[in-house]
Amino acid sequence: MEEITTVGVIGAGTMGSGIAHVMARSGLNVVLCDVEQRFLERGLGQIRTNLGREAAKGKLNTAEIEPVLARIAATTDRAALAPVELVVEAAPERFDLKAEVFRALDALLPANAILATNTSSISITKLAAVTRRPASVIGMHFFNPVPVMALVEVVRGMATSDATFASVHALAVRLGKTPVEVNDAPGFVSNRVLMPLINEAAFAVMESVATAEAVDQVFKLGMAHPMGPLTLADFIGLDVCVDILRVLHEGFGDPKYRPCPLLVRMVDAGWLGRKSGRGFYRYEKG
Ligand code: 3HC
Repeated sequence: MEEITTVGVIGAGTMGSGIAHVMARSGLNVVLCDVEQRFLERGLGQIRTNLGREAAKGKLNTAEIEPVLARIAATTDRAALAPVELVVEAAPERFDLKAEVFRALDALLPANAILATNTSSISITKLAAVTRRPASVIGMHFFNPVPVMALVEVVRGMATSDATFASVHALAVRLGKTPVEVNDAPGFVSNRVLMPLINEAAFAVMESVATAEAVDQVFKLGMAHPMGPLTLADFIGLDVCVDILRVLHEGFGDPKYRPCPLLVRMVDAGWLGRKSGRGFYRYEKG
């Protein structure tokens, strides 16, 4: 198995830029691709800020910041991805959009390149089926904030080969992460378990069992969670939580996954959590 040296990342949002950050910090050359220059600039700004944060904590030498950034080639031209050995797609969570990206990458990349997706719940098996290389398609699910969270959920689709799995497993280790192998099922393991927790916490607030603050205190103090489930929901984005719950609801056909009406109403109101300035809590818009 040859060691990967050049990777592509599709999408320079929070997850994509976090993934580019850890890849470049581990010595890989990264082609970071998004549809608009302003998204790339915002993503690169985020990477610079977070590298500075790591340097301030002594996790990285300040002199390494510029070389890490220099390993990231930001582009709006997908053709620049042609030489990469592996792509991690971190585009918005819509099947049609991801399918279009996968078809285009399949046509563009060398036959032995791996197509990985950072999807939080879309079926790897279904995405693989739009390509001519289903054995080389895999889920590489990172967690926010990517430079901090130790886990990569490595998701095997129905056709994913052992060689693809081994390459991605080795890459995750090289990034300083701990890969955990799971099979393709709605929400994988992480969101299948996390989202019902968040949903139930929202029901508790809707039914006036407790305030959002009280629910979060229970989990912070009683279960040593770093954030309570509703603070975490705001951090993830309430729209993202509702979308994942819908995938679980539809995928399993089990009413236990139905999104809490309070969550749905908040999303309808534009209260998406931290990113919109209001969710279960209020935030200063930054
Ligand atoms: N980049 C680099 N470093 C960062 C960072 C970033 N974006 N954000 C925080 N850090 C570092 C800080 O510098 C600090 O480093 P230190 O431990 O060396 O001092 C450390 O992380 C902790 O940060 P802070 O002291 O600023 O803040 P907290 O102690 O409150 O921790 C947190 C912040 C790490 C976000 C913590 O609250 C946490 O772990 N929360 C839970 C996050 C979580 O569950 N994420 C998963 C979400 S689910 C998901 O992503 C999957 C999707 O499919 C939904």
